[in-house]
Amino acid sequence: MKAVDGFARLKQEGRKISMVTAYDAWSARLVARSSVDAILVGDSAAMVMHGHPTTLAATVDLMALHTRAVASAAASKLVIADLPFLSFRQGIPAAMEAVRALVTSGAQAVKLEGVAGHEDVIRHIVESGVPVMGHIGLTPQSINQFGGFHVQGKTEDAAAKLMCQAHRLESLGCFSIVLECVPAELAARITSELTVPTIGIGAGIGTDGQILVLHDVWGLDVGHVPRFVRRYIDGERVLTDALNEFNADVKGLKFPEPAESYS
Ligand code: KIV
Repeated sequence: MKAVDGFARLKQEGRKISMVTAYDAWSARLVARSSVDAILVGDSAAMVMHGHPTTLAATVDLMALHTRAVASAAASKLVIADLPFLSFRQGIPAAMEAVRALVTSGAQAVKLEGVAGHEDVIRHIVESGVPVMGHIGLTPQSINQFGGFHVQGKTEDAAAKLMCQAHRLESLGCFSIVLECVPAELAARITSELTVPTIGIGAGIGTDGQILVLHDVWGLDVGHVPRFVRRYIDGERVLTDALNEFNADVKGLKFPEPAESYS
């Protein structure tokens, strides 16, 4: 799948959409060899790749750098790149400069968080021919407003607000919407009311697709593992074991062997 209309088709056909993040060329190459439908160059790069405690440190330059690496290695996949913190909140010209940087780095679409206060920007990006993915629920760029990584939409009022935001994003022309950390029942209800596909993370089984951070799928996360993560391999252990084996071989004079040396 390379174009965003593939997303719409999968929803119409009742087939689920799978997505993972990627931030660099080597991991994007592996994702490109897999059957996963699409890649998000998420601003989670700031946390996963650069060790920041939140996504707020991501910049347009940083996102463009990661997008270039991913897009060059995964030419067969739809690549969506995150517009980072405040890059779409400083007026249309600044937002379009950020969009330009990401699209000319190889992204076919951009994702941005929230809706209130930047509806004009979303409309302008869509009308400029760049597909936009929305993102509501636990939007990590608003972490200081939420006071932590908490499930959103738990009260009736909050659920109604999320439903409204989802409809608004659809009417602004978003081709898909990420629902992050919202109750499963609410996510399913939003999904059934929208014609565009929803992609869930911590939002239960009722969304049109699922996204996980690649390092979580591979079990490479070193800190707290949220409840919604499923590790498909204990990558941390496998990779550490490989390093310890290498160390033991070096210390035990077992590496390199003659066949691994030049005469
Ligand atoms: O940046 C990111 O990785 C994301 C996904 C978790 C949806 O926005």
